[in-house]
Amino acid sequence: MPRASQVLDRVLVLEMVRVTEAAAIAASKLIGRGDEKAADAAAVEAMRTALNKLPMDGTVVIGEGERDEAPMLFIGEKVGEAQEGAPAIDIALDPLEGTTITAKAGPNALAVLAIAEKGCLLNAPDTYMEKIAVGPGLPKKVVRLKNSVEENIKALAEAKGCEPEDIVACVLDRPRHGDIIAELRRLGCGIKLIPDGDVAGVIATADPDTGIDIYMGTGGAPEGVLAAAALRCVGGQMEGRLVFRNDDEKARARRWGIEDLDRVYRLKDMAKGDCIFAATGVTDGSLLEGVRRLAGGGKTTETIVMRASSGTIRTVRTEHRKG
Ligand code: FBP
Repeated sequence: MPRASQVLDRVLVLEMVRVTEAAAIAASKLIGRGDEKAADAAAVEAMRTALNKLPMDGTVVIGEGERDEAPMLFIGEKVGEAQEGAPAIDIALDPLEGTTITAKAGPNALAVLAIAEKGCLLNAPDTYMEKIAVGPGLPKKVVRLKNSVEENIKALAEAKGCEPEDIVACVLDRPRHGDIIAELRRLGCGIKLIPDGDVAGVIATADPDTGIDIYMGTGGAPEGVLAAAALRCVGGQMEGRLVFRNDDEKARARRWGIEDLDRVYRLKDMAKGDCIFAATGVTDGSLLEGVRRLAGGGKTTETIVMRASSGTIRTVRTEHRKG
């Protein structure tokens, strides 16, 4: 039987584009319609249908929720056309990352998918995660969750050969980030406050065109694993620590096999081995153009698909003339 990584390369890389494209197109019909749930449901259904056409023995490890909460793409759901010898693959997905953004026609909504060999993606519970991330080409451990905002910004500025005032941080615009934001302002940093969508926020640190040097703050844990898979492919550093709001969330984490609830996860603890990450833009954003209508009918999509082991990053622009 071929190793999963060989099959990931030869068969699935481009096939994944179809999956995120399908979810993005379905969600795009609800951009600006004020209905988050309908947009999410459309993306979920389209992604599931497309995933089930892929030649793999897939298991959703990061999905729409636990079996009793999510009718489709629940954690543990089997997807793919498992033929004889098909590789066992773990799947992390977010058919619509940025449901509110989509409902309000804001920037950076994505359809997102990551796959890896079985056991290589952190089975993160649907809790929050404290995250810190920077792009590639920096000294190892230049920023750490255990360090203060000031220590991290000063270390990053020194590594980049600039002043703390030159650093731009991306932070989710939430009251819980009041202290981080105040500290960044005191240091004179620029802050890109995003309304939602921290998968794109983390990936932006790896793209010099965005002007973002660091991502800091607390967002969804599933989104943390997806962002980690992306950074494994493009390069960069990230740490994440689960944040629990109550005992129920702690019990949930233990059910997923997490024993040390305070553990700091590094990139390879969240996405190890070979992995592939794909995202299609739903609305325009820093990473990708959103779904556009073609004059005369149809749609265009823009997708990025990248693979950790080969370091390939493909941007695929597709015209869906019958879409
Ligand atoms: P949804 O697509 O599920 O709405 O998530 C959007 C998002 O902004 C994520 O990018 C982020 O990780 C999380 O929500 C933050 O959670 P909260 O909105 O509770 O602060």
